[in-house]
Amino acid sequence: MERELAMEVVRVTELAALSAARWMGRGQKDSADGAATSAMRAMFDSVSVRGTVVIGEGEMDEAPMLYIGEQVGSGVGPEVDIAVDPLEGTELVAKGLDNAIAVIAMADKGNLLHAPDMYMEKLAVGPALAGKLSLSNSLQTNLHLAAEYLNKPLDTLTVLILDRERHEEHIDILRNMGVRIKLISDGDVAGAIAPAMEESGIDLYVGSGGAPEGVLAAAALRCLGGDFMGRLLPANQSEYERCIAMGIDNPHRILSITDLVGNEDVIFAATGITSGDFLEGVHYLDHQRAKTHSLVMRASTRTIRFVEATHYLPNKPLPEQ
Ligand code: FBP
Repeated sequence: MERELAMEVVRVTELAALSAARWMGRGQKDSADGAATSAMRAMFDSVSVRGTVVIGEGEMDEAPMLYIGEQVGSGVGPEVDIAVDPLEGTELVAKGLDNAIAVIAMADKGNLLHAPDMYMEKLAVGPALAGKLSLSNSLQTNLHLAAEYLNKPLDTLTVLILDRERHEEHIDILRNMGVRIKLISDGDVAGAIAPAMEESGIDLYVGSGGAPEGVLAAAALRCLGGDFMGRLLPANQSEYERCIAMGIDNPHRILSITDLVGNEDVIFAATGITSGDFLEGVHYLDHQRAKTHSLVMRASTRTIRFVEATHYLPNKPLPEQ
């Protein structure tokens, strides 16, 4: 993929973020998601690729746009697979909470796992722990190893996890070991990327979240030199069969970062909708302008760019709900 593509992709996440941000704090997550999705879909027409959505808004019969298998892009350029989440953290936007982002990962055709929409057990770390921990270890063992490799006492480790009842056991273990826990209410793409962001103060991301979000996070961690492992958690026979149908021969297998994102030819872009640990949200300025803050990266070069942009906003009223 050409390097210019990275800047084309960030324009897509910017527009999705600008559209979703109009719904910030209005308690209407579906409207926010719809606005982000249509903006992202429309903007994709200008991206110089022949793209196929492999992770999107759902199956063709349940999502009008950005559905799995949809062809996007200008129709000229490399053949790529695309994972999108126009609004990652719908509740966050609806409630006006931090860490909602618009996000895209793009890779050479055949290099993004077609992750089914179900839970995935995840383990994400930054570069200092890449290749050192494993989902096949107990959480206790991973924490001891992390403390050893990071050369710091256990009680100074900080672990990020979604605040969910299903994580009670993880949280008990973490508390008993004396590590710090940062609980998040939603948004585990940003959560899983956090350990690779030096300033975040997060050492590990653990627990289960959406499998599609896992692929997006793995793409970002590829660019940042971090590591990610996942294990799909099919909840019943039909989810198990969906994994098989999507080409995952052993749904219980531990998936490495390479299983999720096949090679280094991957671009990741995210724009903040509400402010978070490493991206500012959309800020409205005077004279019908707004500022966006985005992160765009390529794994092949490990270039990490933060892009701040000011946009002129035509004065359009919000659609009636
Ligand atoms: P949405 O943007 O689709 O609402 O997802 C938010 C999210 O928090 C993801 O980041 C995470 O992977 C997933 O939901 C967790 O699912 P659940 O809320 O069922 O625990």
